[in-house]
Amino acid sequence: MSKNVLITGGAGFIGSTIALKLLKKGYQVTVLDSLSPQIHGENPDNSELYQRIKGKVNFIKGDVRNRQDWEKALENQNIIVHLAAETGTGQSMYDIQKYVDINIGGTALLWDILTNKKTAVEKVVVASSRAIYGEGRYHCAKDGDVYPIERRDEDMAKGDFEVKCPICNGEVELVGTTEDSKIHPTSTYGLTKHTQEELSLMIGKSIGIPVVTYRYQNVYGPGQSLKNPYTGILSIFSTIIKNGNDINIFEDGLETRDFVYIDDVADATILGIEKEEANFHSFNVGTGEKTDVLTVAKTLIEKYGIPTEVKVSGNYRLGDIRHNFADISLIHNLLGFTPKVSFDEGIGHFADWVNQQEIEKDNYEASIAEMKEKGLYK
Ligand SMILES: NC(=O)c1ccc[n+]([C@@H]2O[C@H](COP(=O)([O-])OP(=O)(O)OC[C@H]3O[C@@H](n4cnc5c(N)ncnc54)[C@H](O)[C@@H]3O)[C@@H](O)[C@H]2O)c1
Ligand SMILES: [Zn+2]
Repeated sequence: MSKNVLITGGAGFIGSTIALKLLKKGYQVTVLDSLSPQIHGENPDNSELYQRIKGKVNFIKGDVRNRQDWEKALENQNIIVHLAAETGTGQSMYDIQKYVDINIGGTALLWDILTNKKTAVEKVVVASSRAIYGEGRYHCAKDGDVYPIERRDEDMAKGDFEVKCPICNGEVELVGTTEDSKIHPTSTYGLTKHTQEELSLMIGKSIGIPVVTYRYQNVYGPGQSLKNPYTGILSIFSTIIKNGNDINIFEDGLETRDFVYIDDVADATILGIEKEEANFHSFNVGTGEKTDVLTVAKTLIEKYGIPTEVKVSGNYRLGDIRHNFADISLIHNLLGFTPKVSFDEGIGHFADWVNQQEIEKDNYEASIAEMKEKGLYK
């Protein structure tokens, strides 16, 4: 018998991609999503993401902060993929209560219901993030593996952006972040993601419902919200380029991220749904490769063929990390996951998709002004 899967946040970028893949595999898919205007715009009929799943899944418009919405959505479900969340790292530094309410509160409500009501739920998959690691893992020639603390405002103000050894203050070399690396988020967002994980693993164990959590790196690809100025660097740059504006790059442009293609992320998540070996594990999902932000900007400009000035501004946001890339040995060894799409190929698919989209006015500057006003952007 095919299983019933509930995807919260299933109208979003990652959720809709997983939903379509699960439908192809014969699952019955229900989506619980509030159609947040920050992602879908004021009129969801114009939301490409929502349109992808509309009429194909059993759609419930609702909020994960609302018990009735959860109860309705949970009826007859076997597997829960909990993705609904607020996702902007920078925004989470001033919209603190909202981030805690939706990300932690929403997850708490789910477990409250699963603990107190009889349901058919057999497994819960939770989206976590690389943001829980804060700065990734580094190696110091003197002190071995180290976890640099948040960079100091006064260093960054001088243009010194690299992290230092927290013990000897010397130079450190970046290495892949393994799942057992130190958890020390530098944003409210990261903190909420870690709490979601811990709460789910702990309560899941106590009531015998297997939990799998995924620490996604920077996910990109077709469908990524072009409306949300708070997250998704490829989308943000694309909107700026298409609007004919200059790109202002934070720091010195050499900060790096691990960009993982959407289809690979969906496939990794589905492995967790289907494989028992995944139960009660937390997995990194990335490529294990790092790309600097300047390269991202230049590659996009080249793909669109629109001359764009790139200014390396030296500005920075408090709470941002310098580097992070995943060590993906665990998910490879336990679930057989290997990412299939290289950054070069993936960014090509992404740019082709953007070329077919209607591009809205670039409101990135407004989001920066918001951070400046709150003293979080320097
Ligand atoms: N995209 C990434 O790079 C990335 C990286 C790490 C982790 N994640 C995590 O993966 C998950 C999905 O991310 P995404 O990129 O698809 O984000 P997204 O913003 O595209 O999708 C999130 C969906 O959740 C919905 N939503 C928001 N608040 C809600 C609420 N209160 N109730 C119900 N629905 C609500 C939104 O309408 C949206 O459709 C999130 O939990 C995010 O933290 C994403
Ligand atoms: Zn040292």
